[in-house]
Amino acid sequence: MARGGPLIIASNRGPVGFRRGSAGAIEASRGAGGLVTALRALVDGNDVTWVASAMGEVEREIAGSGRRTEESASGSAFSLRLVAHDAEVYRRFYGVIANPVLWFVQHGLWDLKQDPGADLGPAWREGYVEANRTLAAAVVEELDRLPDAPVFVQDYHLYLVPALVRAARPEARIAHFTHIPRVGPDAWAVLPRDIGAAIHEGLLACDSVGFHTEQWRSAFVDCCGTLLGRGADAERVSHANPIAVDAEEFDALAAGDGVRERRDALAAGRPEILVLRVDRADPSKNAVRGFEAFGRLLERAPALHGRVGLLALLDPSREEIPEYVDYRAAIERAADEVNERFARPDWTPVSLVVRDDFLASIAAYLEYDVLLVNPVMDGLNLVAKEAPLVNDRDGVLVLSREAGAFEELAEWVVPVDPLDVEGQAAALERAIGVAGAERRSWLDGIRRHVRMHDMDAWADRELRELDARAPRQGAGATMQP
Ligand code: F6P
Repeated sequence: MARGGPLIIASNRGPVGFRRGSAGAIEASRGAGGLVTALRALVDGNDVTWVASAMGEVEREIAGSGRRTEESASGSAFSLRLVAHDAEVYRRFYGVIANPVLWFVQHGLWDLKQDPGADLGPAWREGYVEANRTLAAAVVEELDRLPDAPVFVQDYHLYLVPALVRAARPEARIAHFTHIPRVGPDAWAVLPRDIGAAIHEGLLACDSVGFHTEQWRSAFVDCCGTLLGRGADAERVSHANPIAVDAEEFDALAAGDGVRERRDALAAGRPEILVLRVDRADPSKNAVRGFEAFGRLLERAPALHGRVGLLALLDPSREEIPEYVDYRAAIERAADEVNERFARPDWTPVSLVVRDDFLASIAAYLEYDVLLVNPVMDGLNLVAKEAPLVNDRDGVLVLSREAGAFEELAEWVVPVDPLDVEGQAAALERAIGVAGAERRSWLDGIRRHVRMHDMDAWADRELRELDARAPRQGAGATMQP
């Protein structure tokens, strides 16, 4: 990839994470999560400065020493600017507002019985608003150094950053991309009106606002109409552009030693028919109903006993948030329940592994016969794109109609409704039974689509959407996909 012009990306989690290794030295590792996975590809083609929150003690220490140069997986350099927040500000920002409130509201998981608590107002003002201010101030400083650089703000953590940057630098070229679902005005009505208004005003300060699907985009337009009377502005700035996968990176990882070792271990103990799920341990991913569905499958298809196994590789997530702690316990109970009912001395139907091991996930991508992706709601779901790309066994994808990726992949999957457990059991049975030629043609269909709609195409479209609405002054700013 050719190097492009300067580009500023701002997100909560950075593209690399830092922790202290056993010998005491600071070690860098791939940042977790879908947004980071997808956007890391941009680092290779552009002169990127990435502004992100310092998460944890080691990163806070690093933040103190200013901007640093990091290397992407393929060796190209980028600048990383970690921003340290006050610990209590960050807790309220991430642990009260961004995840338990915004994430749940936007995934249709907000329960009206739930008490948002007296903490909501202070957590909003002294947490979310404050953290957005700190990140926006860092972006403005970077803009002073790189005045031509377009600013690409990412996701629900940073809804207020565009308006704050706009107020400080009216001429800035700003885009925002939301990586999670968008719900309509009725769902937002559970929040105080000033919070909903500030979020949507924040986004309307952008020149360009992107979503994974047309459905999420039109929910945004409806909200701007109802909350602000600015539906027409929302219509003008917004577009749908589903994010992609860095296919070259996955090909390389799948061929690497780390994956080979893990695959050999998996292949040695695998059942004849391997059903796989790979997710963060998040309530939106619907793992509990997935285990229940697998139990129902075993009930209705005794011929599969001893032959089929469900492997669930779950990445621990947001473990400081009580709802996540409870959900993880529910996941473990649901997996145990299936095993208590059906296990035999020679066969354990469900294997649940809760661990952050990305290479183990890729090894399992190579080996599955059926991939279960059944989220209650999901902005896109990258697993549905990543796994078929490298799978070696003509695996069939069982995909929730509520995942953003369904809009793109529907013709090559077995669809499921995420709350219909019986329906998911039937879908698993159907997926196991799909005949050879059809399996191959579905997998090929997904692969062709994923390779054609790649990160270059995604990044190119984001740049064109920004250029169309906020033309560059001269030739300084360019984003090279
Ligand atoms: O999907 C939105 C997202 O921000 C993705 O980057 C990722 O899948 C996940 O959420 C990461 O969340 P966190 O940074 O809280 O681990």
